Amino acid sequence: MKVIGVSGSPIKNSNSDRALKMALEATGLETEFIKLKDYTVAPCQACLGCVKTNRCVIEDDGIELAEKVKSADALIIAAFTPYSSLDSRTKAFLERLYALRHRHGFMMGKLGGAIITCAVPEENEMLPPAFDMGKNAIMFYMMEEGMEFAGAARVDGNVPCIKCGQDAECKISGLTMLYGEGATPESVGVNIFEEQTQAVEDVKSLGQKIGQMLREKKS
Ligand SMILES: Cc1cc2nc3c(=O)[nH]c(=O)nc-3n(C[C@H](O)[C@H](O)[C@H](O)COP(=O)(O)O)c2cc1C
Repeated sequence: MKVIGVSGSPIKNSNSDRALKMALEATGLETEFIKLKDYTVAPCQACLGCVKTNRCVIEDDGIELAEKVKSADALIIAAFTPYSSLDSRTKAFLERLYALRHRHGFMMGKLGGAIITCAVPEENEMLPPAFDMGKNAIMFYMMEEGMEFAGAARVDGNVPCIKCGQDAECKISGLTMLYGEGATPESVGVNIFEEQTQAVEDVKSLGQKIGQMLREKKS
């Protein structure tokens, strides 16, 4: 039994990456971690060239990734939420798995889970629901492909403005947008996954649940 973990976060060893690795470890099964930034994956061009072959006609890394996912039993995706929706690497990757759908439904019955890192604070109800937008995009992909969605975990990420160095003079700083007038990188602080008790618990539970469900399925 194998669980594939795919991270859409481009940042090296990011919160999303570390959370995903923790979830993979918690499954207790054989796993593989994939960082989409290390691959080239164009979005689906809706040509239907994959219908008869279950292989995309775009000759990039999307072919290899689809094969890896096809041979796995579960898929956990860690994504982030630029402009309050699913990041584009993760979206393109999911679109390319369309090749696995036709006639056979190769994703059917596989287990799935999502980890969403977002900068919008959970308690701020005035801002767009970034977590729900990211989670729903992954969950609906999995449901539409006949997978079993085991759940999602939320990780608090960091608005990029926290490290741009220009926030004091910026007319549209994300710090002000998220935390109000007068917010500074110092007053906001940096969100680190391992320091978020709830997120660590949720991520571990997600991994354990997927591991448990897979063992039950195969026994
Ligand atoms: C171009 C851009 C736009 C962003 N817009 C949002 C947003 O609208 N809502 C949000 O919650 N986070 C937003 N973020 C913040 C990311 O969700 C945040 O950087 C996240 O912590 C990245 O996760 P990582 O540290 O695991 O890479 C944005 C980030 C970028 C780069």
